[in-house]
Amino acid sequence: MTTRALLILGFLFGAAACGGEDGDVTPVDTSVVSDANATTDGEGSADSAAGLPISVSAADFDCLTKWTKVRRFRIKSLNGQLDAALKIANSPTGGTYPPGTVIQLIPTEAMVKHEKGWSDKTNDWEFFFLKMQAGKTVIGAQGTTDVINGFGGNCFDCHAKADPKWDLVCEQDHGCTKLPFSAEIIASLQEADSRCKK
Ligand code: HEC
Repeated sequence: MTTRALLILGFLFGAAACGGEDGDVTPVDTSVVSDANATTDGEGSADSAAGLPISVSAADFDCLTKWTKVRRFRIKSLNGQLDAALKIANSPTGGTYPPGTVIQLIPTEAMVKHEKGWSDKTNDWEFFFLKMQAGKTVIGAQGTTDVINGFGGNCFDCHAKADPKWDLVCEQDHGCTKLPFSAEIIASLQEADSRCKK
């Protein structure tokens, strides 16, 4: 890992450790049994068609390097719809990600797609600012338009700049202001994910 990546890593995790947002943490909805979404491949589309709620907890944000890599980001599905999600991720014309999709670029930030109608303003995406504690994920903040990252930036404000056909996913060239991180630094941050070390 380069020195610069280490510095950024230190900054990210340092900022995460003292980001005083604990008071704003919304309890994760545990009323929905997660098995409701856990279907085997192929059956997931029935769930999403029925619009079943997507339940997400801190444990769903696990070791990033085990997730599928698409260009710079990592992607997984909470309800067996990874193939459908990858189809959108690899489509040259974009599209809407299926409910249950989880995307991360770096260990401390995540986007989770909820069922249709969950939040019109954010295309049903929920944004998460995450903290790592002893190799486990702790949710620092979650929500729609008001989640702030470790640099003081508002997730939605940046991601809303993506052209509508990309479903709020920024990547390199979707219309968002670019991040000052090279592909190499992003890969280093993923490889250094403390959740992978057990
Ligand atoms: C300053 C603007 C900005 C802010 C603030 C921001 N992002 Fe991003 N985000 C980007 C850009 C640009 C990319 C694409 C970077 C790349 O691929 O090199 C990105 C990438 C991502 C990705 C990978 C998928 C994609 O859109 O390319 C996720 C997931 C993500 N951000 C989540 C978040 C979350 C969650 C927050 C808040 C906790 C957040 N971001 C805050 C601009 C921002």
